[in-house]
Amino acid sequence: MRNDTPPEPPAIRPADAADAGRIAALHCESWRDAYAQVLDPAFLAGPIEADRRALWAERLGAPAPAQGVLLAETPGHETAGFICFFRDNDPRWGTLIDNLHVDPALRGRGIGERLIRAAVATFAPDRPFHLWVFEANAAGVRFYLRLGGTIVERGIDDKPAARGAPHLRIA
Ligand SMILES: CC(C)(COP(=O)(O)OP(=O)(O)OC[C@H]1O[C@@H](n2cnc3c(N)ncnc32)[C@H](O)[C@@H]1OP(=O)(O)O)[C@@H](O)C(=O)NCCC(=O)NCCS
Repeated sequence: MRNDTPPEPPAIRPADAADAGRIAALHCESWRDAYAQVLDPAFLAGPIEADRRALWAERLGAPAPAQGVLLAETPGHETAGFICFFRDNDPRWGTLIDNLHVDPALRGRGIGERLIRAAVATFAPDRPFHLWVFEANAAGVRFYLRLGGTIVERGIDDKPAARGAPHLRIA
């Protein structure tokens, strides 16, 4: 269901090292909101902030050449959403979209779609790309299918916190 508030168009820019803490905080907030029924509650209640801060400090402090991270800002929201991708990550499926999260309070306003379109424009629109989404994340799956994605594979997420949850590769 879309939010009825008139959308404030986000500004989208590449993230840099100074954004690491804010992206880590949104990443944790979005996990706790969107994956409450998917990930182990003990994991979500645990010290995930430290883990995400370390991840984003590393990714943005010393970016891999294939990595791209874009940040969406709206008036009043410095971190409305972010997307992280790795170019040409898979010989068959191409670029991997590894993370896409929108502030839970700002979902359904087109920010996720703008982020994904900006990312695709950055990493070459004529090349394939793919991502994994939990099967139980029905709204997330619907979002990607509405944008034209196709489910090409079903697997089991092997991260311990996922406890064997099925996930879908969407290309
Ligand atoms: C999936 C997500 C990135 C979409 O971003 P968004 O800015 O809310 O999406 P848009 O406004 O561009 O598109 C809205 C669509 O997203 C979907 N959606 C997913 N979660 C939603 C939510 N919590 N609220 C509203 N819409 C949601 C809906 O299908 C909606 O389509 P509809 O209008 O046909 O109902 C965002 O909801 C999010 O961060 N979800 C949690 C994390 C996640 O699932 N990430 C992707 C999986 S890897």
